[in-house]
Amino acid sequence: MSSSRTKSEEIHARNRNVIPGGVVSVNRAVKPEISFLRGRGSRVWDADGNEYIDYHAGFAPYILGHNDPDVTDAVRRVLDEEATLMGAGTNLLEGRVAELIVEHVPSVDRVMLTNTGSEATYHALRIARAHTGRAGVVVMQGGYNGWHNDVALNVMTPLEAVGERVERGEYPKVPITAGIPEGALDEVHVVNYNDLESVNEVVRTRSVAAIILEPILQNIGIVKPVEGYLEGLRRLCDEHGVVLVFDEVKTGFRHAMGGYQSLCGVLPDLSVFGKALANGYPVGAIGGAQNLMDYFVHEDAAKRVLIAGTYNAHPIPCAAAIATMEKLAADGGATFERLYAKGDRMSKGLGSILDAAGLTAMVARQGSAFCVYFADHAPRDWHDVAEHHDFELDTRYRAALIDRGVYHFPLATKQGSISLAHTESDVDETLSITEDVVSTLKA
Ligand SMILES: Cc1ncc(COP(=O)(O)O)c(C=O)c1O
Repeated sequence: MSSSRTKSEEIHARNRNVIPGGVVSVNRAVKPEISFLRGRGSRVWDADGNEYIDYHAGFAPYILGHNDPDVTDAVRRVLDEEATLMGAGTNLLEGRVAELIVEHVPSVDRVMLTNTGSEATYHALRIARAHTGRAGVVVMQGGYNGWHNDVALNVMTPLEAVGERVERGEYPKVPITAGIPEGALDEVHVVNYNDLESVNEVVRTRSVAAIILEPILQNIGIVKPVEGYLEGLRRLCDEHGVVLVFDEVKTGFRHAMGGYQSLCGVLPDLSVFGKALANGYPVGAIGGAQNLMDYFVHEDAAKRVLIAGTYNAHPIPCAAAIATMEKLAADGGATFERLYAKGDRMSKGLGSILDAAGLTAMVARQGSAFCVYFADHAPRDWHDVAEHHDFELDTRYRAALIDRGVYHFPLATKQGSISLAHTESDVDETLSITEDVVSTLKA
């Protein structure tokens, strides 16, 4: 590939005149500065014509690949034949999205739609508070559930800020944004993932409405629940009347049609979806049992939870979501087998290359999502990642892959996502490039 990035750099420079930092979502402002112009299937092209095999997948939504033709056709039908936004009453599209989620996700029998995952986690916490009459929310160190005040803290927190691993109790709160009013975090409790003792301590001693978590921590790579952990959370929630919220924004529709809950067998009270749900179009969903979801239409106005949004359930993302879910579900699970097989080929191949190179590394994977940790074991929490993963090596590894035409987000531990559009030969080409890259890294 040509390694010129002149046009990308020009676009970034031009945008800096009108956009703070030049990029509208600050977490996308990374080096190298690349302006992507086109995507098809497993590939993307930048402004300078460089081609990449893409594993960033727009922070994971692309489960079918870029510009999937069936999704594009569905969107085109809306533009050609249907109303794009009426803002009154309901329609068949939003109903069909909800029907498909209800059909496939075991804990869900009612659904509401938003534009983003953050809005959906926000509303899930509101329902939990309305239902329990309590304010407290438990979140995980190392989890990401969006940008709003209750959850915008303690993700990839520097250990100097949180200190030693907390085995029983809460972490110091370290917001990931300025502008959270003083006191707004009083009701937020941060605990360690995979540690039931701490959750037990908090739900016994505080007034807790909800525990919200990614069932697999997928914003610090792939950190899986240890045996019994999710079951333990379910039990504690039942004992203390706490609402268990699974944030399946990353796990839902990527690992199974029924979300990770359908694989682990632990059912939350509320679930939140986004990303793979619509293969790159903006939609979020909150789902759960009717008694909780009906807080949105509670007959007592004082208990009713407001959900409103000019663009909620916009026909274009709804059509994309329907096309995505129908395509994923079309052959009764074989689609996910195909995805898992690609993930397996990738992780086994990477494992052998890293082993042969004599690097201390392991590949963590769930289905089509994977992460190379330059560490000697699979991490079980954020401290494990922060203490054992070689961030400097990971950063060099990603930069070298990008230079060779394999795009992983250039931030250490960010998940790689394989789509149905990735072919075996894409995976093999990636492995061959990785083999070269790894040899230069060692040198
Ligand atoms: C697990 C999880 N929850 C919530 C969100 C927020 O979703 P959105 O960026 O659509 O607001 C994200 C985004 O990365 C996420 O990974």
